[in-house]
Amino acid sequence: MSNFKRNIIVTGGAGFIGSHVVRHLVNKYSDYRIINVDALTYAGNLANLKDIEQYSNYTFVKADICDFDIIRRLFSDYSVDGVIHLAAESHVDRSIKDPFTFARTNVMGTISLLEAARQQWQSEGNSFNNKLFYHISTDEVYGALELDSPDGDAPYGSEFFTEDTRYNPHSPYSASKASSDHFVRAYHDTYGLPTIISNCSNNYGPYQFPEKLIPLFINNICKGISLPVYGKGENVRDWLFVEDHAKAIDLIFHEGRVGDTYNIGGFNEWKNIDLIKLLIKIVDRKLGRPDGASDHLIKYVTDRAGHDLRYAIDSSKLANELSWHPSLQFEDGLEKTVNWYLNNNDWIEGVTSGEYRQYYTEMYGSEE
Ligand code: NAD
Ligand code: DAU
Repeated sequence: MSNFKRNIIVTGGAGFIGSHVVRHLVNKYSDYRIINVDALTYAGNLANLKDIEQYSNYTFVKADICDFDIIRRLFSDYSVDGVIHLAAESHVDRSIKDPFTFARTNVMGTISLLEAARQQWQSEGNSFNNKLFYHISTDEVYGALELDSPDGDAPYGSEFFTEDTRYNPHSPYSASKASSDHFVRAYHDTYGLPTIISNCSNNYGPYQFPEKLIPLFINNICKGISLPVYGKGENVRDWLFVEDHAKAIDLIFHEGRVGDTYNIGGFNEWKNIDLIKLLIKIVDRKLGRPDGASDHLIKYVTDRAGHDLRYAIDSSKLANELSWHPSLQFEDGLEKTVNWYLNNNDWIEGVTSGEYRQYYTEMYGSEE
């Protein structure tokens, strides 16, 4: 019998968003046991959780979510009553080169977790009481929006993704996430498994692997390496500080309606090239370089295949029903993020050695 009020598996807790979710839950709920299940792929890093690794309500288990026998055993060994599922292959560019890995982890891994939860919770024979399988998904499943008729609050177009927007994924990554969302809903509709899904926009903040736009470009600006802007830099993304996402996940896990979907976003759209110019300004200022010193690093390169033009999330359901609002202005979040990368050189050096160098060269050629 567990001494904890709840026993919650967080998958992918050693990754970027997962580590913020784990830290938030471990600090806030001392009566919950948080079991971080992570395979520690290139994107998983236990250094992300150094500050909480000794806490008595935190447990780490190195496991692949696709390994059904191990996952099934974890559910019974730890009397798991909740799952917050973040483990995934998450980078669009990698999915274009290696779609099989994305199908395996994102689709088969999700089914493995759903089935382990169903078997364990049904074996307890109490109609799934007080159980929840919460699946973390992305706005990319909705496809892409046009750039059109700007107005005040929506500078790049009037349309937004809502919870009712029809799925229309374009990349192997988003197709695999869409498929996993469908499986989660299928388990709810077929077996009555208590599930919730949230679909979030682009996250940024500390501990993000430097293959994604913001950490990659901060690192490159610092080192004077060119900044590969895909296409004309006109694509638009809706950015949210990662700790605001972690707080939204906590709120939805505790107060969301079972069987429902929630969109999470910052109402914070930026054209890539404008964001990149702002980032250059901030990093140069912090490094004591003259304004514009790193502008020459911008290098327009061949566009990403199937590059979605615009993402924009309508998160008013979450605001209206659960009173969630992002806490940080983007400029403040970006300052905080740049400060973190400048002050955590060891972390950057740790994750950019070894395999990263090979990835970088295959992806972008030389560092010039
Ligand atoms: P990430 O790539 O930083 O971390 C993924 C984590 O999953 C890593 O720790 C990795 O080791 C682990 N993992 C991968 N394969 C695994 C497997 N087979 N078994 C166990 N663990 C495995 O990803 P992230 O950016 O933190 O994203 C987390 C989740 O949030 C993903 O599901 C992603 O689709 C979703 N999401 C991300 C964003 C974003 O902007 N990053 C936005 C919306 C939704
Ligand atoms: O919208 C949510 C999604 O956001 C998450 O589901 C994904 O896991 C996450 O990776 C992110 O996907 P994006 O493809 O939007 O993020 P990325 O950081 O890869 O790219 C952001 C934008 O910047 C995109 O328009 C592509 C562009 N870009 C990216 C890189 C890495 C460049 O121009 N150059 C680059 O080198």
